Amino acid sequence: MEQTQWYKNSVFYQIWPRSFRDGNGDGMGDLYGVLQKLDYIKSLGCDGIWFSPLYPSPGADCGYDISDYMNIDPQFGGMEAFKAVLEGAHSRGMKVIMDLVVNHTSDEHEWFQKSRRRIEPYTDYYIWRPGKKNGKLPNNWDSHFEGKAWTYDEVRKEYYMHLFAVKQPDLNMDNPLVREEVKKIMRFWLDMGVDGFREDVITFISKKKGLPSDHLLPVYKGIFMYNHGPRIHEFLTEFQNDVLLNYDCMTLAEAPMVTPGIALKYIREGKGQEFSMMIQNETMCADCFFQDYFPRKFSLRRLKKAFRNWQEKLDGKGWNMLFLENHDHLRIISRYGNPEYREASGKMLAAMYLFQKGTPFVYQGQEIGMVNWHPGDPEMYEDVATRYYYAHHNQKASPRARLHKLWRCSRDSSRTLMQWDATANGGFTTGKPWFYVNDNYKEINVARQDGDRDSILNFYRLAIGLRKRLSCVRWGKYREYSKGSGWLYQYSMQDDRQRILVVCSFSDQTKKYKAPDGFYLDTGKLLLCNYSDPDPAVLKPYETRVYLW
Ligand code: GLC
Repeated sequence: MEQTQWYKNSVFYQIWPRSFRDGNGDGMGDLYGVLQKLDYIKSLGCDGIWFSPLYPSPGADCGYDISDYMNIDPQFGGMEAFKAVLEGAHSRGMKVIMDLVVNHTSDEHEWFQKSRRRIEPYTDYYIWRPGKKNGKLPNNWDSHFEGKAWTYDEVRKEYYMHLFAVKQPDLNMDNPLVREEVKKIMRFWLDMGVDGFREDVITFISKKKGLPSDHLLPVYKGIFMYNHGPRIHEFLTEFQNDVLLNYDCMTLAEAPMVTPGIALKYIREGKGQEFSMMIQNETMCADCFFQDYFPRKFSLRRLKKAFRNWQEKLDGKGWNMLFLENHDHLRIISRYGNPEYREASGKMLAAMYLFQKGTPFVYQGQEIGMVNWHPGDPEMYEDVATRYYYAHHNQKASPRARLHKLWRCSRDSSRTLMQWDATANGGFTTGKPWFYVNDNYKEINVARQDGDRDSILNFYRLAIGLRKRLSCVRWGKYREYSKGSGWLYQYSMQDDRQRILVVCSFSDQTKKYKAPDGFYLDTGKLLLCNYSDPDPAVLKPYETRVYLW
């Protein structure tokens, strides 16, 4: 099968199903709701949708704990509703990719239930170990969400490994039967017409032989023993050869702690390529270490360096995935922008990433400039990682300081209900919603922005439309200017037909501006700006401009 690399021309929209839209009034987002909004997604200029997990799941990690891989959860409308959405998307020229979560399953999955009872062939489907003689755990690895990576199972009388929540046991990918199951799942969805997968923490699937303890890291102990593990390329090549190469599909790999050099081992184009693209985390670390739980002051230099690193090092070798938000991160305006200049900074951030080379993803609500959620009570948080963190960290701090910490780090900020209009619950449901809506929904919502030419929403539409018409954005070369500046980010994209300059101010002050050498603004065409009266010699707070020559 010829792989056409269609994804290089696409812009994707990510749906986190629980909070996107409730179509049947039971308070839970569902596929009936998605069906009502396909035209909306299309109206953004998006031509692909990534669905966070839709499969049956007990919901311990909001669907990333799967109990049946070849079905759609009835709470989302079941298989019939999914097929209608798939057809509806395809008939509008939009592709659909599914989340493939195969590092772990739910502990309620039939495989785990049989494995804990040693029923063949499931006995070795998971990573089981007896405890050590001195009563210690099999090794010292940490889970990402809930304490140590091992939990004792009273049924099997052994420990099982879980790199995430207690209810997310890790699969034993060294077992060829498990790999066959993965391939079966892939074929099932691809045969139905799905266009590819976003593969959840897929670089974690091969654990170092002997599962040795880690004596180096203070947190996330063990991560170097399973991230990019010893058999990873062997497993991925097997998935490619046996399944993926038979379809014109794309794969997007979530890859915590990856550098462009390591990424190219997976995504270098040509024979042996294992994924179409990778989700790197470096551009999400301009205001934190590794992830949002370890905050540091935002640094534009750090952000620019990260984008530059990926734009330059993958150029001509591998393809970038571009994003600013997803269901694991806080809202970008509250992080890299400025909620006091919500509109200006939201538009600037959009232009900043939408004109780079790669495939952009827009996360639900990002396109209307949703901002972080500040609930009054820690009990309102739902996310398993947030709840564990709250119960076990910062206990000596004041209640207020503890709550503020959650405001700063919990991924629930991006999981509040999508704000469709100014009616109750932001128009998300007519029933009682499963989760909260941000109090600002009357001011920030789709209905209010849809008809307003100057809204963030219409800025996204404009920017995405422009991007699609500019060959230099997709095929040109990235070059950056004023690299040392702490407030100005500017880069050009150039191919043999055209050249654009993207100018982004990260300052809340009006600043003097001079274009880089060789760019004559009076001869360039101003394609996009977030102010109606731009002055070439200054940049207003969070001003952005895109010029074309
Ligand atoms: C990925 C997902 C995240 C999930 C975790 C465990 O990082 O994006 O939402 O909780 O994996 O599956």
